[in-house]
Amino acid sequence: MTLHEIAVIVLAAGKGTRMKSRTHKVLHPIAGKPMIRHLTDTVERLSPDRRILVVGAGREQVEAALPHWQIAVQEEQLGTGDATRAALPHLEGFTGDVVVLYGDVPFVPESVMTAMLEARRASANTGLVVLGFTPRDPARYGRLVTAPDGGLERIVEYKDASVAEKAIKLCNSGMMVVDGARLEGWLGELTNDNAAGEFYLTDLVALARRDGRDVAVVEAREGDVLGINSRADLARAEAFYQHRRRHEAMDAGVSLQDPDSVIFAHDTVLSPDVTVEPHVVFGPGVSVADGATIRAFSHLEGCRVDSGATVGPYARLRPGTTVGADARIGNFVEVKKAGIGAGAKVNHLSYIGDATVGAGANVGAGTITCNYDGVNKHHTEIGERAFIGSNSALVAPVTIGAGALVGAGSTITADIAPDALGLTRARQTARPGGAARMREKAASEKAARSMADHRSNTDQTE
Ligand code: UD1
Ligand code: CA
Repeated sequence: MTLHEIAVIVLAAGKGTRMKSRTHKVLHPIAGKPMIRHLTDTVERLSPDRRILVVGAGREQVEAALPHWQIAVQEEQLGTGDATRAALPHLEGFTGDVVVLYGDVPFVPESVMTAMLEARRASANTGLVVLGFTPRDPARYGRLVTAPDGGLERIVEYKDASVAEKAIKLCNSGMMVVDGARLEGWLGELTNDNAAGEFYLTDLVALARRDGRDVAVVEAREGDVLGINSRADLARAEAFYQHRRRHEAMDAGVSLQDPDSVIFAHDTVLSPDVTVEPHVVFGPGVSVADGATIRAFSHLEGCRVDSGATVGPYARLRPGTTVGADARIGNFVEVKKAGIGAGAKVNHLSYIGDATVGAGANVGAGTITCNYDGVNKHHTEIGERAFIGSNSALVAPVTIGAGALVGAGSTITADIAPDALGLTRARQTARPGGAARMREKAASEKAARSMADHRSNTDQTE
């Protein structure tokens, strides 16, 4: 085994009581992805040799979300040091670098993890590297107490800190890299003789110093080590993540008219020269190609929009949708599991589900694909350049041939051949003077009714 092997331990056995949730704290989503996956996806980029997840209450939920991780169980929540101890059986014989992370601190960047590993490898005498930060409000974070020689002497938890120690601005983020050869020994020496009665992982610093080892500090930006303990923290983390994604998108050539009102998912892909108008929500699985415009108040999820297409305002694209190049999806149009061909138009008030719309087709206002018979879903095929008149119901399964025309207001239940006209409409009748006669009849009936009412009221008051 080389010194450069990496084992990662993620601690997630805390109860997360402040979330007041049936869902495990580390599974609450940020931009549509469980918080802990933000962390573990970054960890994957280090190509670790071992991955250990420490879980307690609600362990089944967390295990299911991270199938490739070895699971260690901490039966009782006796502190972060005790939790790390639970991982030891998976570290037998391991003498590389052990990275300890907290499952509720999800945004530690790869660059910070790498900087910590480098700090640890810079000198063989470095037994431990701690990730510190200087928050605007140091609140109840553990404080980093530096030694006269400039190194780190120990970490004091807020609950145990003196007034002078509470004045220290440099705080503990929770992330650590530990010499794997010494981890078990140091963990074995932890005591719970402190204000919380817990085994603190942070006490490893003092133990390393006692053994004559150096302890290095890497400093992170506050946003990188954001911790989540409550719903308010979760909202802050979401806001932080969204802010970052908006700026990444703009830096990559995307126009956001009102960045703060656009919501990204963790995997949203927007190409250069995409324009996004205000109040657009991207659910998971969306990619938008160059030159496309997503207009205001649109909601997209699991879909692909090709170059030059326009979506919205007020459009909803649901999973399985592709919008071809230069196609147009207009206001109050819902599209689900459908391919809209290049240059096709579905401009107003329509539902297109389980369908293929050919290139250049024009789907009129209020067209509905009746895809569901209450039991099964059926497909609608609309050929290239077909024209669907407004307010048509296309009862699937049904095929409208290329270049065919459906008369407005039709209910189409049988296939229409290419270039044919399909029409299902009762013949129109016309009665001269009929409207005037109807109005007169209605007026005289109304007059008779009010006369009768007046009479019965007078009877009662006598
Ligand atoms: C911890 C640090 C503190 C630091 C802060 C940063 C310790 C003793 N303190 O405090 O210095 O400033 O994080 O956010 O480490 N966990 C377990 N089992 C336990 C206890 C905790 O798995 O018995 C897990 C939690 O699920 C969580 C992480 O460890 O993911 C941190 O625990 P938490 O109780 O939130 O520690 P803090 O009090 O925030
Ligand atoms: Ca915490």
